[in-house]
Amino acid sequence: MLVVSPRVVTCDARLATHANPLGAIDDGAVSVRDGRIHAVGRASELRERFADEPVVRAPGVLTPGLVDAHTHAPWVGSRAGEYALRLAGAGYEAIAAAGGGIVASMRSVRAATRDVIAEELAARLGRMASLGVTTVEAKSGYGLDLASERKQLEAIAACGVRADLPRLVPTYLALHALPREANGDRAAYAAEVARTSVPAIAAAGLARFVDAYVDRNAFSCEDARPVFERAGELGLGVRVHAGQFADVGAAELASSQGARSADHLEHLGERGAEAMARAGVSAVLLPVASFTLQQAPPPIALLRSAGVKIVVASDANPGTAPTESLPLALALAVRSYGLTVAEAILGATREAAACLDLGEETGTIREGLAADLVLWDLADENAIVQPWGASRVRATLRGGAVIAGAMP
Ligand code: NIG
Ligand code: FE
Repeated sequence: MLVVSPRVVTCDARLATHANPLGAIDDGAVSVRDGRIHAVGRASELRERFADEPVVRAPGVLTPGLVDAHTHAPWVGSRAGEYALRLAGAGYEAIAAAGGGIVASMRSVRAATRDVIAEELAARLGRMASLGVTTVEAKSGYGLDLASERKQLEAIAACGVRADLPRLVPTYLALHALPREANGDRAAYAAEVARTSVPAIAAAGLARFVDAYVDRNAFSCEDARPVFERAGELGLGVRVHAGQFADVGAAELASSQGARSADHLEHLGERGAEAMARAGVSAVLLPVASFTLQQAPPPIALLRSAGVKIVVASDANPGTAPTESLPLALALAVRSYGLTVAEAILGATREAAACLDLGEETGTIREGLAADLVLWDLADENAIVQPWGASRVRATLRGGAVIAGAMP
């Protein structure tokens, strides 16, 4: 088919200029064959070249399928009570100390079967698709023991084989919180995770990345280093929850471990930013979490001047980012963080795919890539980042097939 659109936002770096950073083509078209992008260009030219292809007229702007590069999607249970506590003034760390937070989700996950987790995850992914998302990085991290972490990752794998949902990138969040049975000994728990759990998850082929929450009142750099080293030895990539509450050197650790991303970064110094730029570690920014926690933004100017690649993700989780909406994260990224529209959109498409090692598969409208496309009921990219509070997607295509909405 030939999809014609008044504005095709390719996100292709080869088409980008200073005045057109998203490589947008007015009156553009995309030829889709066998689920892949076959050609991209001006509608007039492509209509001639592919005269026998059925034409689909997109009502508005066409973008790559959105890529959500940081989610805790396989959760079950609700922590709405905790949100009420937060509104009454309790802080994240106070909530965690009172047995809420991550450990509350652990209790729900441990009590659920794999099939129930998979069912809730599938429903969530369907709602994400209806918001234009075609790829989701999904972390475990609410099991906190090997069997329960494995159960979450198996739920991800069960959804991962379904072509009617967004594609999934599974991450083993190896260090997230300390379960009670660890008796307060973070170092011993982390060492055991590195020795036993990381190899077991790798051997089962259940994760592409390993993540750890390195922060004040979470795990230290010393706790996390052996986990990342083991991951690297086993061929898994590394991602790091870094600098959400304090700069404890997690960005430098991520850089020294060849991590693909350091995420959050509300607290990041010059040394950390420079190390990230040198090592090619992307900054995954999570403005919904900052919003929920009423935090000041990460140092955007510093990230820009250091030359760090910027990604924007939802952080979808039941506590600090109770959302399933990447477009909401984009709206907050421009309004609260001061990202440009182009930075935000690239951060949810090309740059997000690149930091998941999927840059040759998705994230850009470019010949050869999967036909992951969003047909928006909006005229241009500036409208996508407005805080609609409702889906403005007409159709979401993964590999050329509709996974949400309907073709015009
Ligand atoms: O990315 N910072 C640690 N992890 C999550 C919080 C998850 C939760 O509260 O359940 C985050 O914000
Ligand atoms: Fe997170």
